[in-house]
Amino acid sequence: MPVKTNSISQRKKEHLELCLTDEVSFKNKTNGFENYEFINCAITEVEISKIDFGTKFFNKKIGYPFLISCMTGGVTEAENINARLSIAANQLNIPLGVGSQRQALENELFHKSYKVIRKNAPKIPVLGNIGASQIVQFKTFEKIKILVDLVEADAMVIHTNPAQELIQDRGEPNFTGLLKLIEKLVKYLEVPIIVKEVGAGISKKVAEKLINVGVKGIDVAGAGGTSWTGVELLRNNHQGKNEFWDWGLPTSYCIRTVAKLKSKFNFMLIGSGGIKNGFDIAKALALGADITASARIILQELKKNSSEGVIDLIEGWFEIVRQIMFLTGSQNISELRNKKIIRKEKLN
Ligand SMILES: Cc1cc2nc3c(=O)[nH]c(=O)nc-3n(C[C@H](O)[C@H](O)[C@H](O)COP(=O)(O)O)c2cc1C
Repeated sequence: MPVKTNSISQRKKEHLELCLTDEVSFKNKTNGFENYEFINCAITEVEISKIDFGTKFFNKKIGYPFLISCMTGGVTEAENINARLSIAANQLNIPLGVGSQRQALENELFHKSYKVIRKNAPKIPVLGNIGASQIVQFKTFEKIKILVDLVEADAMVIHTNPAQELIQDRGEPNFTGLLKLIEKLVKYLEVPIIVKEVGAGISKKVAEKLINVGVKGIDVAGAGGTSWTGVELLRNNHQGKNEFWDWGLPTSYCIRTVAKLKSKFNFMLIGSGGIKNGFDIAKALALGADITASARIILQELKKNSSEGVIDLIEGWFEIVRQIMFLTGSQNISELRNKKIIRKEKLN
């Protein structure tokens, strides 16, 4: 039976189509990684073949410090996309996030677009996903538990996107009571909660508040990659506030500042927002991220070359990371995090 589309499905479809183009990039802002240089280690003794990418995602061991960020579900096209993404994630043994599961609550016919992931990837960490504005609307948590079970999630992601909601035609820019609700949800759910932005970044102050209420992971999803205000402005034919296209804190800034909380708290820091090659990944890790993530560039590769293309892309990025680790004298990821990077202005 064909799935009846509603306005949310239609919106998700438009998001997918727009994200296959580069029109939705930030215009005059970057992720900031170009401001950093690696410190060459002239006496490296690292054995390239023994470089260890081993990382844990909560209690599961994963192949690379990288995850495929939350993108889709709840629209007809999503089943095929999630099927192919999960084949790639399974082969690489990396976590995969699903897109907002709001649609799963409205129509059971959409369930298979999410369930296909566990069919193809029974063991990888899977991240459920729901919007902060839905948490505020629901006020109770039974529905969130249903979403966790639907994908057998290892963690639940709450995406917070005030700038996107503000610019979106019929957006829902209302987050009153959010922090208290997250605090309650942390106690209610059996799986850890990760809070992520969608491309405008999370500041150190906000991260600290979230960690203090029990959030176990922060995905900064900073500025410099996909602009979600840009996506909504394009959907709306630029009727709105174009000056908000480039709104947000650059990814490198968010990682560097939020990482300072590591000395006080135990949490997972996910570095994402415009990650597009091995250098970005290595710099994100060197600035303090535990794991990195990308969204739109993966979707574009999937469209061009399917699961195999995504596998090759990510493996290729990590070949570069391996070479950077050799050149910086880093045998493992925690050594890469130890003062292996410098701001370019300090090189003079
Ligand atoms: C097509 C598409 C759909 C997305 N849908 C969601 C979503 O449902 N939930 C979410 O948390 N993030 C969503 N995102 C945001 C990404 O997870 C990511 O945070 C953001 O795009 C920035 O990363 P990037 O610069 O690598 O694209 C979506 C991204 C893309 C490209």
